Amino acid sequence: MEIKKVRLIYFSPTGTTQRVLEGIAEGINIENIERHNLTYTDGDPQKISLTSDELVIIGSPVYGGRLPFDAINRFKRMKFNKALAIITVAYGNREFEDALLELKHLVIELGLVPIAGGAFIGEHSFATRDIPIANGRPDNKDIQTAKDFGAKIKDKIMALRSPDVQIDLEIPGRFPYEANGAISLSASPVIKEDKCIVCGTCAGVCPISAISINEEVSTETELCIRCCACIKNCPEEARVWEDSMMKKIAVWLNENCSARKEPLIFGINS
Ligand SMILES: Cc1cc2nc3c(=O)[nH]c(=O)nc-3n(C[C@H](O)[C@H](O)[C@H](O)COP(=O)(O)O)c2cc1C
Ligand code: SF4
Ligand code: SF4
Repeated sequence: MEIKKVRLIYFSPTGTTQRVLEGIAEGINIENIERHNLTYTDGDPQKISLTSDELVIIGSPVYGGRLPFDAINRFKRMKFNKALAIITVAYGNREFEDALLELKHLVIELGLVPIAGGAFIGEHSFATRDIPIANGRPDNKDIQTAKDFGAKIKDKIMALRSPDVQIDLEIPGRFPYEANGAISLSASPVIKEDKCIVCGTCAGVCPISAISINEEVSTETELCIRCCACIKNCPEEARVWEDSMMKKIAVWLNENCSARKEPLIFGINS
């Protein structure tokens, strides 16, 4: 079977999941790629009519060992007809726990057929220059792994006679899920008034539109999903965490999760 089109579907507030998916697509080496970036939209449901020679590559970060609530909601608003799918998560070098298994279950519910999966490492959302946690990842080595994964996916699909396959993709994780999702914390990043130039970049990258810009920047803390996109994209380093629990978590991750992990691939013979 030949792949004629690839669709990248992702939720990726700080861009690491997106970079991994682009690497996989590059390895598949196909020109016809359509991107559905669900990070900034929670708009109307989209029905995607897939032809049998299309491949979906769907990706999400891991939050608390699970998929972020907003990623699930946005993926669920899309409607698919049957097609092959690759499932991918990016996690911050701690653990991905039940997240990839949850993504497998979700794509099956959406009508897709997962045939391979990958858990890649991305710079932790809570990492900073001073408190690094997998900083700079996915790096060149990770992207090469993603490209190699893409090339092997292509070979696997070429070897299939028809898209009507029964593939029981084995993915690690527990079901019922044991990881409990994102940390419960009522806090959001704050502004350093002396540095902020009220440029609005943070508002533009917030996936849940929690930030508004008038004469000054304000944040609806109760909406914040702590994705850290506003911090990582602020050109003046004016957006920071002051919450003591968040700082403690970042220090704990730095002290306990700094030993380099490598991406794991499932459903492809090495
Ligand atoms: C609220 C929250 C919870 C997270 N939980 C985990 C986790 O359980 N395990 C882990 O290794 N990384 C965790 N991370 C880190 C992200 O999974 C990681 O940084 C990922 O690469 C971000 O993807 P993105 O760049 O596509 O947004 C968490 C990040 C956030 C914001
Ligand atoms: S991105 Fe930074 S400088 Fe720009 S408005 Fe937001 S906090 Fe201020
Ligand atoms: S305000 Fe919260 S949800 Fe919005 S970008 Fe910042 S950390 Fe993410």
